[in-house]
Amino acid sequence: MSVSHRLTAPAPGWTTTTDVVVVGSGVAGLTVALNARKAGLRAMVVTKAMLDDGSTRWAQGGIAAALGEGDTPEQHLDDTLVAGAGLCDAEAVRTLVTEGPDAVRRLIAVGAEFDLDADGEILLTREGGHHRRRIAHAGGDATGAEISRALVTAVRSDPGVELIEHALVLDLLTDAEGHAAGLTLHVMGEGQRDGVGAIRARAVVLATGGMGQVFSATTNPAVSTGDGVALALRAGAEVTDLEFVQFHPTVLWLGPEAEGQQPLVSEAVRGEGAYLVDADENRFMVGQHELAELAPRDIVAKAITRQMQLKGTEHMYLDGRHFGADMWATRFPTILASCRSHGIDPVTELIPVAPAAHYASGGVSTDLRGRTTVPGLYACGEVACTGVHGANRLASNSLLEGLVFAERIAADLAERHRSGELPERSVDVAGARAAVGVPLPAPESRAEIQRLMSRGAGVLRSAESMAATAAGLAALAEQALAHVAEEKPADPRVETWEAANLHLVASALVAAAARREETRGCHWREDFPDRDDTHWHRHLITTLATTGTPVTG
Ligand code: SIN
Repeated sequence: MSVSHRLTAPAPGWTTTTDVVVVGSGVAGLTVALNARKAGLRAMVVTKAMLDDGSTRWAQGGIAAALGEGDTPEQHLDDTLVAGAGLCDAEAVRTLVTEGPDAVRRLIAVGAEFDLDADGEILLTREGGHHRRRIAHAGGDATGAEISRALVTAVRSDPGVELIEHALVLDLLTDAEGHAAGLTLHVMGEGQRDGVGAIRARAVVLATGGMGQVFSATTNPAVSTGDGVALALRAGAEVTDLEFVQFHPTVLWLGPEAEGQQPLVSEAVRGEGAYLVDADENRFMVGQHELAELAPRDIVAKAITRQMQLKGTEHMYLDGRHFGADMWATRFPTILASCRSHGIDPVTELIPVAPAAHYASGGVSTDLRGRTTVPGLYACGEVACTGVHGANRLASNSLLEGLVFAERIAADLAERHRSGELPERSVDVAGARAAVGVPLPAPESRAEIQRLMSRGAGVLRSAESMAATAAGLAALAEQALAHVAEEKPADPRVETWEAANLHLVASALVAAAARREETRGCHWREDFPDRDDTHWHRHLITTLATTGTPVTG
């Protein structure tokens, strides 16, 4: 089947122009937009739902930075490298931990209000893998919501930042030299800008967040469908280490049929002293790791999964009854309300928890300036792989990474603008097509993709389980192509693009996970249970072949 029979959006019905188009409205996207404005560039923020609907809002625990007495960037670096299980880029981590503290101070200057002690100092908590109290938080356990509030307020009050909400990005536009020159998008119900349109720009920044919706149960919101990684792959960009999907150990267990976004029970709850126990109230993490419940996240998620297998149960428990009612209400108001809304009172009861998909440690490959392998295309935040997280992200490093690398992208754009390296681009909008086409499965495929992924490529994987998942994904692609051949292609609407993106990132993730024949960080192979530094102490790069198939090398 030729590529031209694959994903095709209708020709754009409208076009607009800016200097920098930023896709995504979390901490990374909004920070790029605000800083690009300071450099005199016009910025346009495109977001899939409302401005504050991305993953940032859901972050509970906080933002890690060496701000406390006795703490240093060097210690933060050490903890990050240990969590990353040998695959962090040390230079990227050094950049993160040394620029992080001032980046947090700049965030405070923008208006974010962190929890303070009686002397006005920032209160710091602990989370898994951190040997120090290093996590700044806001509203107790509503850190992401506060950061989002502050940045959204700043962006809304800057008339130089234009916003397009309810818009799903489709494909990158490039000029004759292959430099990013804007993108196509599908806007839902924006009056004049309804339907498929195009934004012409001098540079494009992806800050689209994660891909958790590729699994049945995730902490990610419904909008996290891997759109940025999918766009980048179709544009010919390289992506790195997609196999390293972090499963958060303590997600509120709502029953075997629970699907979609699940409530998080922050690691900070363990940071403040809650225990993991089995149904007999045995603390099974004690003796497994020197940090017990505060071991790096991959170790805790694996221990919970093993314990569930051993006991034949579908969840373990978190015990925070000793906190008492006042501490629950002041320190963890969001989690308290969320548990109670599901009929569990953490003040008097154990909280049932199980791991669920949480964070993509890999993503679109970038350098330290946020540049991808496609000129003029940048990425930051969860969609990017800067090298900071390696095989397993250290808790609460993600908001910091979004912040630090967004500032670096804006600085690079400013520098290029000053030196005349960022001219207006000329692009044939009407004839725009992705560099590589992919199948466009029916919107109903979403649930089937999630089931296939959770069954065969979830927290525990094997060659056999992933072959079954890959076969299921291939069958969905064949179905999509058969419908095109019969001239009954899927209706090109937002749900269809999302299914196409989920299908593409799922296929790429499985290709990488099947290739890595070892257990490392958050990639856990039943058939290769050990870390193998001889063969696999390296990154896996995935690109799309011209046939639309992900190739991992
Ligand atoms: C949490 O609060 O446990 C999540 C924080 C993170 O993912 O870094």
